[in-house]
Amino acid sequence: MSKKLKWGVLGGGGDSLIGVLHRVAASMFDSYQLTGAVFNPDHEKSIEFANEIGIPTDRIYPDFDTMVDAELSLPESERIQVFSVLTPNFLHFPMAKKLLESGFHVICEKPMTMNYQEALELKEIQKKKNNVFALTHTYTGYPMVRQMKKMIAEGAIGEVQKVDAQYYQGWINPIIHDPKLRATTWRLDPEKSGISCCMGDIGVHAYQMLEYMTGIEIRSVLADLNYLYEDNKMDIDGTVLLRLGDQAKGVLRASQIATAEENNFSVAVFGREGTLKWEQENPNYLYLLKDGKPIQTLKPGNIYNSALSLDGTKLPPGHPEGIFDAMGNIYKGVAKAIRGQDYDPAEFPGIRDGVRGMKFIETVVASHAEGNVWKKL
Ligand SMILES: NC(=O)c1ccc[n+]([C@@H]2O[C@H](COP(=O)([O-])OP(=O)(O)OC[C@H]3O[C@@H](n4cnc5c(N)ncnc54)[C@H](O)[C@@H]3O)[C@@H](O)[C@H]2O)c1
Repeated sequence: MSKKLKWGVLGGGGDSLIGVLHRVAASMFDSYQLTGAVFNPDHEKSIEFANEIGIPTDRIYPDFDTMVDAELSLPESERIQVFSVLTPNFLHFPMAKKLLESGFHVICEKPMTMNYQEALELKEIQKKKNNVFALTHTYTGYPMVRQMKKMIAEGAIGEVQKVDAQYYQGWINPIIHDPKLRATTWRLDPEKSGISCCMGDIGVHAYQMLEYMTGIEIRSVLADLNYLYEDNKMDIDGTVLLRLGDQAKGVLRASQIATAEENNFSVAVFGREGTLKWEQENPNYLYLLKDGKPIQTLKPGNIYNSALSLDGTKLPPGHPEGIFDAMGNIYKGVAKAIRGQDYDPAEFPGIRDGVRGMKFIETVVASHAEGNVWKKL
C-alpha cells in the first residue's frame, strides 16, 4: 500500500495562479497523493479540472463544509491527512480554523488571515491541537536562501547592522489606471484581500524573509504607503523604515506599480564583517562581500553549503533550482513533520510567522494612516 500522505486541496483550480506550483511541489519527493479537492466554488468546474489533470472525481466535493464532513465520516486510514488552503485571502482563516479543529494538518497560503486577531485565534487552536501548520512563504525554500540564513547564524558576516529588502512588481500598473479593472480585482477589494494589498501580498514576504534570514525580530516600523486614486482603498506601493533587535536598522521597499517589473525580490544583509545578497530572479547565486576582498559567489549543491541548504538540492551542482523546487522543499519539510521524522524548524515557516506577518501588515497600515509615525510591533 502507498505510504504517501493523503492530500486535499482547496482552491488552486485551473483558473488560479498558485495551484500548479503546489501540485508540482507536492509531487516532487513522492510524499503526497492528491486525494480530494474543492478546486473552485463551481462544482462543475472542479470536476472538469479533476478530469483534466487525471485524478478520480469521487472526492471532488461541491464545497468546503461538505468536504470536511465527508472526510471525517471516513475511517482514519482512508481520510485525507493534510490540506492545502490556496483560496483568496478571506477564506484562509475560516478554512484553516475548521481544518485544525477537525484534526487535519494544514498548509496555508499567505497572508495567513485577514487580521491579527484571527491570527492569534488560529495560533491558540494550533497549540491546543498540535497539528502541523505550514505557511507557504515560498522563497524560504530556495537552497541559497537557506544557506544565507545559516551563514548569518554562524557569524559569516558578523553582527547585523543594516538590512535592505526590495520586492518590486508591476502587474497592478495596467489595472490601477482603469476604473473598471481596479473595481473588480479581488486583491484590491478589502472584503476579499484584507486591509492591505501590496504590504499584505508581497511586503509580508519581504518582512518574513528578513526575520527568517537574520533571526532578529523587527521591533518597530515607519511606513509611507501609496494608493494613487481616491477610490482605491488599498496600498499598491510603499516604503517602510525598520528597526531590528537592539541596534540594526533597515528599509523594506515593496511595489506593485513598479512598471514592468516582474518578481524582483532581493535581500541584502550588511554585517560588521561582510555582506550577503540574494535575488529571487537569479536564485542560484548567493553573493558574499568582504572589505578589500573579491566578491564570492556561492551556488547550490556544493559541499561548502550547510546541511539545510543541501537537503534542498536534488541534483549535482550546475542544475539550477527554481521556484517549484523551493516550494517542493517546503512540502518535503512538512511531510517529515507529519510523519514524526527529524527536521530543521527552518524547513518551513509556521504559525509564528503568520502571527508576526499579520501584526506587521496591521502596524504598517496604522503607521501610514496616523501620519507616517514610528509604531512598535
Ligand atoms: N506563496 C506565494 O509566493 C504566493 C504567490 C501567489 C499567490 N499566493 C497566495 O495564494 C492565494 C491564491 O492566490 P492566486 O493568485 O492563486 O489566486 P487566484 O484568484 O488566481 O485563484 C484562487 C483560486 O481559488 C478558487 N476559489 C475561490 N473561492 C473558492 C472557494 N470558496 N472554494 C474553493 N475554491 C475557491 C478559485 O476558483 C481559484 O481556483 C492567495 O492567498 C495569495 O496571496 C501566494
